Amino acid sequence: MPVHVAVIMDGNGRWAQKRGLPRVEGHREGMNSVRSIINQCGELGISYLTLYAFSTENWKRPGPEIQFLMNLLIEYLKKELAELHRQGVRIRMLGTRERVPEKVLKSIDQAIAMTQNNRGLQLNLAFNYGGRREILDAIERFCQQPSRPPLSEESFAGFLYTADIPDPDLLIRTSGEMRISNFLLWQLAYAEIVVSPVLWPDFRETEMAGVIAEFQKRERRFGGVESKSA
Ligand code: FPP
Repeated sequence: MPVHVAVIMDGNGRWAQKRGLPRVEGHREGMNSVRSIINQCGELGISYLTLYAFSTENWKRPGPEIQFLMNLLIEYLKKELAELHRQGVRIRMLGTRERVPEKVLKSIDQAIAMTQNNRGLQLNLAFNYGGRREILDAIERFCQQPSRPPLSEESFAGFLYTADIPDPDLLIRTSGEMRISNFLLWQLAYAEIVVSPVLWPDFRETEMAGVIAEFQKRERRFGGVESKSA
């Protein structure tokens, strides 16, 4: 079983357009897939789930869609926080607070505070997240240290948003696109990538079980050689 699963939840707009609905209805339905994958990861004993909910590039979308996504996060937390807390889910945010409306930050902060001592699934919401921005932020923080530690992969990783989180073992991207899209650029170095053709709002238990089965068939070598010929 992977310890850390990261997901690029793509295809919401296409899901809606296929049904003649406004794009944002795809995001709304995508919220149900979010609930489903969180429950399933909890049941499977996965320790960390990171969801790409809003990227630093998503500010280029039309204003009303941005507004909708901001409000959807508030709505999601309002609806689901009590149940997530009951399940022992611990919520974290990965991303920058810049430009995010105060009311959104308030609801994220409340969710983080309420769940900080939980010991079940850790849910990392990548919200206003960009991989390059994260690396620049880390360099800035590294340089601000009064006595800088020697630079190594391990010491540098300690300045990323994911400082105390192990790298993802599995990256899932839905809707068939084969791109990383500025997601966890440093952390995905050795992740197994599984691209599902299914659009995010349709990605539920069966699809997730298929992806996990695919992951379990992979042989992870981390740059080494096959174990039997080692
Ligand atoms: C990409 O699909 C998806 C997003 C930019 C937003 C993801 C947000 C959710 C799934 C909403 C719920 C999430 C939480 C955590 C409350 P797209 O719009 O780019 O789809 P397209 O490629 O078909 O246009």
